[in-house]
Amino acid sequence: MAILVTGGLGYIGSHTVVELLNNNFEVVIIDDLSNTEKFILENIEEVSGKKPIFYPFDLKRKELLKQVFDAHNIEGCIHFAAFKAVGESQVKPIEYYENNLFSLINLLQEFRERNISNFIFSSSCTVYGQADKMPIDEETELKLPESSYGKTKQMGEEILRDFAAAYKKRVTLLRYFNPIGAHPSAKLGELPIGIPNNLIPFVMQTAAGIREKLSIWGDDYPTVDGTAVRDYIYVVDLAKAHVKALQKLINSTEEKVIDIYNLGTGKGSSVLEVVHAFEKANDVKVPYEIKDRRAGDITIAYANADKAEKELGWKSETSLEEALRTVWQWQKYLETRIN
Ligand code: UFG
Repeated sequence: MAILVTGGLGYIGSHTVVELLNNNFEVVIIDDLSNTEKFILENIEEVSGKKPIFYPFDLKRKELLKQVFDAHNIEGCIHFAAFKAVGESQVKPIEYYENNLFSLINLLQEFRERNISNFIFSSSCTVYGQADKMPIDEETELKLPESSYGKTKQMGEEILRDFAAAYKKRVTLLRYFNPIGAHPSAKLGELPIGIPNNLIPFVMQTAAGIREKLSIWGDDYPTVDGTAVRDYIYVVDLAKAHVKALQKLINSTEEKVIDIYNLGTGKGSSVLEVVHAFEKANDVKVPYEIKDRRAGDITIAYANADKAEKELGWKSETSLEEALRTVWQWQKYLETRIN
């Protein structure tokens, strides 16, 4: 029996593959390499000492997908593969809907035709929009996200609810807060392809002198220091949650399940707090300037992750500083690859 991991060479995917291999799962990866590089596969093998099976293709290629399901005894899937740049989704909405929704539907068709259950979906706290109260638990009302990217996540969740209900399947929706950090080996992390949009990759590159200055988008929010607040969760902790969620699904005796879990630390940090924590953790400087608010940003989001602790036996273990140290080690590793 094998677990299919789509987007398994991506940022969260690669860390999750390592945790699955460490837990003796057989892993089949499909990844079209659109936002990652092939060396990540070698590094997964180096870090885990095991070899996942890898297919490089786009999930929209239905005939190739069928061949993978024909070739392996797939008992479940963790579906990471998706476009994920919020800003880009606003200028390329059709590409986002096409990529994120068709790939999901193609997978679900295989699951339905072959009567496979156990589907885990990478969702995002973006489905809550700006929630009215903090922390955000799973009962919090959903708001239509502003970005087309966010809408594909919310639509994906709806498609999966219908799929679970109609075909009696087991589905888990994992709503990530802000994943950060790199593997302790420094061999896996978030690849900075192009100009980073997310905070941590930009901070990392600014500290390394690749970018001159970090722009902090707004210091007039109603928060501790005026900068926006997020819940930064260490990527290896996040990866471990997937293994727990998968084990729960596989061991479930119920025919139909829709489980939803927020994955965060439960603690909010402001942009300035993150920048200062990075400087302190790594003894480096991060030059920054305050700019206007970024369109579409919310003020504050942090999780109530009690449900994941209670039902999955999972909680965040790694401090912000520790996570930020791994980011800097990852940057050093990337420099050795270039030089
Ligand atoms: N920020 C800066 N400067 C930067 C980059 C980010 O000040 O150069 C700020 C943002 O304004 C925000 C915070 O840092 O206040 C975090 O920004 P990120 O872009 O890292 O993360 P977001 O919270 O905006 O977005 C993340 C994921 C999305 C997801 C969203 C909500 O990247 O995929 O959370 O779930 F949709």
